[in-house]
Amino acid sequence: KIVSIRALEILDSRGNPTVRVRVTLDNGVVGVASVPSGASTGENEAVELRDGDRKRYGGKGVLKAISNVNEVIAPHLLGMDPLRQSEIDRMMIELDGSPNKAKLGANAILGISMAVARAAAVSSGLPLYLYLGGPGAIRLPMPMMNILNGGKHADNSVDFQEFMVMPVGAPTFAEALRYCAETFHALKSILGKKGYGTSVGDEGGFAPNLKSNEEACEVILEAMEAAGYLPGKDLAIALDPAASSFFEDGNYHLSKSGQGRKTSSQMTELYQSWVDKYPILSLEDGLAENDWEGFREQTAILGDKIQIVGDDIFVTNTQFIQRGIREKTSNAVLIKLNQIGTVTETIEAIQLCRKAGWGFVISHRSGETEDPFIADFAVAMGGGQLKTGSVCRSERIAKYNRLLEIEDELGKSAVFGNPLGG
Ligand code: PGA
Ligand code: ZN
Repeated sequence: KIVSIRALEILDSRGNPTVRVRVTLDNGVVGVASVPSGASTGENEAVELRDGDRKRYGGKGVLKAISNVNEVIAPHLLGMDPLRQSEIDRMMIELDGSPNKAKLGANAILGISMAVARAAAVSSGLPLYLYLGGPGAIRLPMPMMNILNGGKHADNSVDFQEFMVMPVGAPTFAEALRYCAETFHALKSILGKKGYGTSVGDEGGFAPNLKSNEEACEVILEAMEAAGYLPGKDLAIALDPAASSFFEDGNYHLSKSGQGRKTSSQMTELYQSWVDKYPILSLEDGLAENDWEGFREQTAILGDKIQIVGDDIFVTNTQFIQRGIREKTSNAVLIKLNQIGTVTETIEAIQLCRKAGWGFVISHRSGETEDPFIADFAVAMGGGQLKTGSVCRSERIAKYNRLLEIEDELGKSAVFGNPLGG
């Protein structure tokens, strides 16, 4: 039984406040979880409650969310069995009463939801991935490792937010991580030799001032080869332009790189030319969150060749995903716990993807903490794919290291492979 729930204002990887929750049970078990925070957020995401008091953290304090956990929500959950995750999550949704968790804050609600799951796992004597996923949770996720940052995640000349590598040819997760880390290091030395900066963006990828967006793909391919890998076979490229962040007045503005203005169809033509040129397997948010028609067109044109992932357009919300499935808007969904605000609703979103035969990619946020929750969560959900940044910031590496641990623990029963086939 839950005997106490306490929230604390902590800092995320950008130095902004976020919520950590500690759930204590009557058997002495404690479950702790921390909530991440995005920068290129979708407009329909569940509300991250911030104080708005300019005198503290520039208005970004989360003391209201903290007090909502401690004073408003906790009294309702004391005495409950932490194994009843969905009931607890439903109670919080009802207590909030708004359609997007604006009243109590998705950061408050998710902190409790995750900490309850942790406490229940410990109490059951199971690692989190087995508690949430059952004995069938043996598949490690395919990483999409973000090694070059642009857009809103870096102060550089690159419009597209994320250039990622996918170690599709690796036999195990540990080997997959090595392929990526070696490519990351090769990229650093290539960028250095070309006279580019090697400082990193929010998710730990390099943030050089390249001459064009294309050049990002070129230097990554060079890095793969320098590290001894075959592009397209050992390692592929995945993109997240996060196009909502450069969409304005009906057009896409590639202004950081100076590559001009494009219509929705022209963006898809651009991606098509890239897909012909580079070993790209996945494209996320190639268009803006309200460009449903553009997404439909893009999926019709490119959906047979590559994975089309919707992030801002679906915001891990089953209502939007339903519409996407109906309208063939994409063929995969990006999954972020804090976009929707409870563990239960996140699992429902993934179940919906599975039912439709769609892919799913579990994701960190650009503002993260050292909590590796999503590592266990990805294995619990049957692997899929996982975005959790590069290999040079510990809030990202915490997730990779946790996955190495899980793979080791699973031993011979661990499964790893390319979910995209080919
Ligand atoms: P965010 O970006 O966490 O800043 O929203 C991640 C993404 O767009 O996938
Ligand atoms: Zn995204």
